[in-house]
Amino acid sequence: VFNHVVRAPEDPILGVTVAYNKDPSPVKLNLGVGAYRTEEGKPLVLNVVKKAEQQLVNDRSRVKEYLPIVGLAEFNKLSAKLIFGADSPAVLENRVATVQCLSGTGSLRIGAEFLARHYHQKVIYIPQPTWGNHPKVFSLSGLSVKTYRYYDPATRGLDFRGLLEDLGSAPSGAIVLLHACAHNPTGVDPSLQQWEQIRKLMRSKRLMPFFDSAYQGFASGSLDEDAQSVRLFVADGSECVVAQSYAKNMGLYGERVGALSIVCKSADIASRVESQLKIVIRPMYSNPPIHGASIVACILRDRQLYHEWTVELKAMADRIIRMRHQLYSALQERGTPGDWSHIIKQIGMFTFTGLNSKQVALMTAEFHIYMTSDGRISMAGLSSATVPHLADAMHAAITH
Ligand code: LMR
Repeated sequence: VFNHVVRAPEDPILGVTVAYNKDPSPVKLNLGVGAYRTEEGKPLVLNVVKKAEQQLVNDRSRVKEYLPIVGLAEFNKLSAKLIFGADSPAVLENRVATVQCLSGTGSLRIGAEFLARHYHQKVIYIPQPTWGNHPKVFSLSGLSVKTYRYYDPATRGLDFRGLLEDLGSAPSGAIVLLHACAHNPTGVDPSLQQWEQIRKLMRSKRLMPFFDSAYQGFASGSLDEDAQSVRLFVADGSECVVAQSYAKNMGLYGERVGALSIVCKSADIASRVESQLKIVIRPMYSNPPIHGASIVACILRDRQLYHEWTVELKAMADRIIRMRHQLYSALQERGTPGDWSHIIKQIGMFTFTGLNSKQVALMTAEFHIYMTSDGRISMAGLSSATVPHLADAMHAAITH
């Protein structure tokens, strides 16, 4: 009965790792998925995460009972404080409904399902380009997906005028997906002044902000600075939806830990919203897993561990920035044609190189370098030892 099932293509991002794993070459390099690697090219478990796990193991009172549908209450409270700020009126007035979800994707999906059921406007505008999973998450949740201009290939920067024009002509009340910081895949963010203009326009048209915050702390190295866009919107007192992930900033990728927050106008509305989020979650996966959220709660509640986390986070962000400078210099040294200054201007985990799919294919075939076909490279997967190899490959692709 399943004979008619056709083979589906691999995922454009996670499929890169599948191809990489099959390559026997000793010089192969995976710059596809956005996952942090050390200078030695190894995955990193933060020290602070190891300490938190030790605490959890030593705590004999811990059990493996089900969490409530909304997850670990303390984790939810601390996550809201982390993104909105401890002194945020929305948090202090209990106007935020926060539920623990399965990392960023799970949070986006629960938020989208809730909006599709309870929000009057079913259209969502996503930036062009955006993370490849966004359109799928939103359309499968029942929203209709449209795009707004975001990236200008000519300047390799923000198409701010196009963005304002497209959001300006969106229907009143439309949902707008915004990357809180470190836009994926472009590494191009609006300035704080531009964020303020976006906020004014969106509020005047009653557009609903839906933030995807997957890189808090990873763009600038500062958790507060990377939350500024979100906080600007929350400070005006209107509604806002935020998906948070701890995959990158705590290195908890496979623990699938994240949170969805819906900022409401009153505590009463927030509690009704939360009750409906439970209705969305229960038939999907019943309740979320306990381990990752317990690690996060341990770190966020403890002053010392929190401090140690910020130091480790800054070290990861700084290493990525160093890789940007090293790659830029290596291309300069090789005299690679073109202006590569966007490598040091873009921020976060990725550089949107401007390489086309043919050039990427050449780099994979001849240099065993794996990356997404849109020319995005994960700077977090590079190290001082592998920069020359990447620069050689880019030079060959450009001058081919
Ligand atoms: C990425 O864009 O590489 C990451 O967000 C990982 C993923 O799930 O795609």
